[in-house]
Amino acid sequence: MSNNKPNAATEEERTANFYITESYKTIRTNLQFALSATEDKKVTIVTSYEPNAGKSITTANVAITMAQTGAHVLLIDGDMRNASQHKIFSVTNTNGLSKLLSGLSKPDDTSFFRNVRANLDLLPAGPTPPNPSELLCSKNMKKLLDALREAYDYIFIDCPPVGVISDALSLLSNAPNVMMVVRQRQTRHDDIKHSVEKIRGVGGKLLGVVITDVSDSNSLFGGKYGKYGKYGKYGKYGKYDKYSAYTKSGEMHYINNNSGNAQSEGK
Ligand SMILES: Nc1ncnc2c1ncn2[C@@H]1O[C@H](COP(=O)(O)OP(=O)(O)OP(=O)(O)O)[C@@H](O)[C@H]1O
Ligand SMILES: [Mg+2]
Repeated sequence: MSNNKPNAATEEERTANFYITESYKTIRTNLQFALSATEDKKVTIVTSYEPNAGKSITTANVAITMAQTGAHVLLIDGDMRNASQHKIFSVTNTNGLSKLLSGLSKPDDTSFFRNVRANLDLLPAGPTPPNPSELLCSKNMKKLLDALREAYDYIFIDCPPVGVISDALSLLSNAPNVMMVVRQRQTRHDDIKHSVEKIRGVGGKLLGVVITDVSDSNSLFGGKYGKYGKYGKYGKYGKYDKYSAYTKSGEMHYINNNSGNAQSEGK
């Protein structure tokens, strides 16, 4: 943002916010359709091939947008090596998934942050454990997810990149739905194919692909990035050219700008 006054967005920023908000609403609609056709209609794993693709920001915004429908949504930071959701929502990471899974804390304690946005709860990653992959595919994770499925309409899990570590893949036996994040001009086509093969190889179900950092929506279906579209229908909603400027500031409230209550919900 150009200054610290929350209501002082320029016309250019308001236009960018509008496109971002609309893009996420379109992703939400497509995701709702995709989830409705799956067996596990509640849990979505978010991953990418490589680091820095935009997974965490995308997961946070998709969760916020889904919660705006009135659905009860939980966002879990499943990246216990590189936790970031607690930073995005400005909460502590003292407790969280790692402690729950290792039995160091109980599900009914202070691990969950309720209503970080309307209808949205957050379970941070917690302190980095020595064995994140094992914890994610443990019986405790299965038990936790089973209990949370009862309590929430949608659950999103922000996971590490599948090209680097296998944490996300270990989760797929408990929660097979995957949303892939692909960064334009960064993620290579072969790496997307490789990720999709890995995901399908362990029984995962690819719901779709979100393309981030799109500076020119016309370029999406041309050139060497042209084949991303076939893995999902989210690619074309990518007019995010001003997006990194906002997300880097860590401010998430813009996602609500259209509803007119952005500042009251912004953290
Ligand atoms: N749609 C987007 N367009 C442009 N920049 C983005 C977008 N989404 C995220 N970013 C920026 O990209 C950087 C990485 O974002 P983020 O932390 O969400 O990625 P990540 O895939 O979770 O990374 P990691 O692999 O380290 O967990 C941040 O600076 C963020 O502001
Ligand atoms: Mg991340």
